[in-house]
Amino acid sequence: MPQPRGYSSIQIILHWTIAALIIFQLFVNEAMQRAFSERLDGESLDGFSGALLHMVVGLTVLVLAVIRLAIRTIRGAPPPHADTPAILNWLGHATHVLLYCFIFAMPLTGAIAWFFGIEFAAELHEVGRLILVPAIGFHVIGALAEHFVYRNDTLRRMLRSNGD
Ligand code: HEM
Ligand code: HEM
Repeated sequence: MPQPRGYSSIQIILHWTIAALIIFQLFVNEAMQRAFSERLDGESLDGFSGALLHMVVGLTVLVLAVIRLAIRTIRGAPPPHADTPAILNWLGHATHVLLYCFIFAMPLTGAIAWFFGIEFAAELHEVGRLILVPAIGFHVIGALAEHFVYRNDTLRRMLRSNGD
């Protein structure tokens, strides 16, 4: 896979857009939970617009994730910093892989639960949240450690493209 010097503008925009939408979904999901249990109980849906918002935002994440992965496959990503301990670089890479899995798995399990009424998919969706939240926390701590402790450009290169 190619290793450019930095991320492109489109990679940066996609990273922050997906991050914002994921965090929104983690906070705003009560209407969807209510609608889902009403639907399983065969009741008429009350206040469907909140559930629709959760669906639309989540499916937008899925579309953006497909575009993002395609760009990453073609263009690659910058290499880790040689000065950061190898174990931390490895953990950072593993977290990125996990987060990539989640930006696909969360919308897919949610959609399978909602459109096919499969409760097991809803359970996976809930368990997903329990793993995703600490993974994001770990990811943010890693980015801050690179910036403040190892004093490299990891955070800066996800904020500004170097024009490559
Ligand atoms: C970025 C993607 C998504 C994230 C981060 C996300 C996150 C969440 C969270 C945190 C919950 C509450 C889980 C709980 O603790 O009970 C939830 C519930 C739910 N979401 Fe999503 N969601 C996403 C996409 C979707 C999509 C695309 C759909 C459907 C098309 C969907 C359908 C549902 C359903 C049906 C529930 C209720 C599950 C239940 O109550 O058992 N989600 N979602
Ligand atoms: C909100 C706080 C966040 C901060 C401060 C942050 C920061 C960063 C930084 C600095 C990088 C570049 C790492 C490097 O070049 O070595 C990065 C990459 C990445 N971030 Fe985040 N991020 C955040 C949220 C998220 C969220 C919510 C997700 C997805 C759920 C996410 C997924 C990823 C992925 C998959 C990469 C790897 C990109 C690649 O190499 O293709 N990030 N993040």
